Amino acid sequence: MEGKKVKATSVTVIQQMTQQDANLAGNVHGGVILKLIDNTAGIVGIRHTGGNVVTASIDRVDFHSPVYVGNILRVSASINYVGSSSMEIGVRVEAEDLITGEVRHTGSAYLTFVALDEHYKAKKIDQIIIETDDEKRRNFEAQERKRMRLESAKKRK
Ligand SMILES: CC(C)(COP(=O)(O)OP(=O)(O)OC[C@H]1O[C@@H](n2cnc3c(N)ncnc32)[C@H](O)[C@@H]1OP(=O)(O)O)[C@@H](O)C(=O)NCCC(=O)NCCS
Repeated sequence: MEGKKVKATSVTVIQQMTQQDANLAGNVHGGVILKLIDNTAGIVGIRHTGGNVVTASIDRVDFHSPVYVGNILRVSASINYVGSSSMEIGVRVEAEDLITGEVRHTGSAYLTFVALDEHYKAKKIDQIIIETDDEKRRNFEAQERKRMRLESAKKRK
């Protein structure tokens, strides 16, 4: 069968948040989390395409609740949808309190990456092989987001 399984390229990056990651309020800076989201999604994109990818857009980022210094951040990413050269990658962020063991879902994001060839032009990529009901639902929702993004881009012209 052509394509790659979603779970073959999915990844979870784990990092402890330190004082260096804090904002003026003493919690973890949103920009630090955003960079981790972008990096983690990028790993999935490179795994899927086996080559260079760039972030084309970030459709949506939600920070549901604060992340605290000392928390372990778990950033999980997987491919939701593949177009011709672009792919939507969904990211879920969880924060674990090491002392109490409590795990909170603190954020989520949807990013579109585009695969580039050696001349930095968009190149065709493999499809994904969808296996589970969750993957099917995410694929459907991603196609809907792409349709809305293209519609709003058309309106802006
Ligand atoms: C992303 C980029 C390669 C697209 O180039 P392009 O010439 O517009 O490419 P195309 O028109 O051929 O589109 C290629 C694919 O990208 C998608 N795409 C283009 N712009 C997009 C955007 N803003 N958001 C989401 N997808 C986008 C298209 O829908 C198309 O998808 P498909 O092939 O799956 O149908 C180009 O805009 C770029 O290099 N941007 C800078 C990326 C970067 O530097 N990111 C780092 C963060 S600053």
